[in-house]
Amino acid sequence: MATWTPGAPELVARWALDPSVDFLNHGSFGATPRAVLAVQDALRAEMEAEPVEFLARRLPARLDAARARVAALVGADPAGLVFVPNATHGVESALGALDWREGDEVVHADHGYNAVKMALLRLEHRYGVRHVPAIVPFPIHDPEQVIGAFAAAIGPRTRLVIVDHVTSATALTFPAAELVALCRARGVAVLVDGAHAPGLLDLDLEALAADFYTGNLHKWVCAPKGAALFWVHPDWRARVHPRVTSHGYASGLAPEFEWTGTFDPTAWLAVPAALDHLEVLGIAEVRAATHGLVREGRELLADALGVELPHPDHPSWYGPMAAVLVPWARGADAPGLTARLFAEHRIEVPFTAYDARCFIRISAQVYNSPAQYRRLAEVLRAWR
Ligand SMILES: Cc1ncc(COP(=O)(O)O)c(C=O)c1O
Repeated sequence: MATWTPGAPELVARWALDPSVDFLNHGSFGATPRAVLAVQDALRAEMEAEPVEFLARRLPARLDAARARVAALVGADPAGLVFVPNATHGVESALGALDWREGDEVVHADHGYNAVKMALLRLEHRYGVRHVPAIVPFPIHDPEQVIGAFAAAIGPRTRLVIVDHVTSATALTFPAAELVALCRARGVAVLVDGAHAPGLLDLDLEALAADFYTGNLHKWVCAPKGAALFWVHPDWRARVHPRVTSHGYASGLAPEFEWTGTFDPTAWLAVPAALDHLEVLGIAEVRAATHGLVREGRELLADALGVELPHPDHPSWYGPMAAVLVPWARGADAPGLTARLFAEHRIEVPFTAYDARCFIRISAQVYNSPAQYRRLAEVLRAWR
């Protein structure tokens, strides 16, 4: 049982968010508690006091300690885990590990993240690799529909399947374990894009045993921006390299990935502070409270918009984010509606595009309160 209530002033005060904004978009970039930012500031001050001591001598051991905390969170052997700046880097690193040939195919759901689709387009331009979408219906009511969509898209030329663990535009949790098992059974490599997953879902990366897994720590772990993880199956560890080469080339995952030239590592080093913050609130309590806010919020929005909910009300389908159809708008209207809502009402929430349709995607964090979703629902009712 949580000893706190979401949206209570003492919780809101933990974050640096502008109080004049109803911030219902934790999902895009996260938001970092003041206590974690203070740790990062102190690390930066230390770095600037003696950059060589900090970066050349002390950094590797400190990264080992921070990585061990992340490994414990996600059920990973630290030897297969590295920090990367974001999930985009993780995806690109996995794509770079395969030896592509013209006609190879990559399966990625139509719900998949746009930047990943662009990475696949680049593979097409460079090597003639084809992107084959797994068409996952939405509304959806049965996880078998997700598995069936991937099973239908995998063919004899498939070299890699990319599974979004939690989709961006539609905020759906995909059944990653079943999809990884499907790929194993078909003999194709699988990358799980868990951009939203760390902190939000129970992860056991060793048991999941995908070929590659990437996930952000700046979203639901609330680490500073630029903190993410990339996990590599033992079979691939000698073959995967960051896109940027530096001193650590071919000397192991951590030396290669965690030094790709001079940079500011304080976001990575502050991850333990973010985990401490999450653990003080209670990870299970945070998940339950934020799911509860979104559960209620999506019902309010569906009522205001006059639409059905797009998936069953079960935590296996969604956590602290949910998407609701906006029936009077098209996908192309999404950016304009997001900007209008902010300009007219100071509500920060994304309208998203999927399959040419427009959705509104709400997020919840413990700094949010039910009144914020009610206010949003009233605005949407008036816009109808
Ligand atoms: C499914 C998915 N993949 C990749 C990303 C990219 O994350 P980042 O911008 O941190 O690299 C996101 C971001 O929201 C996402 O939702």
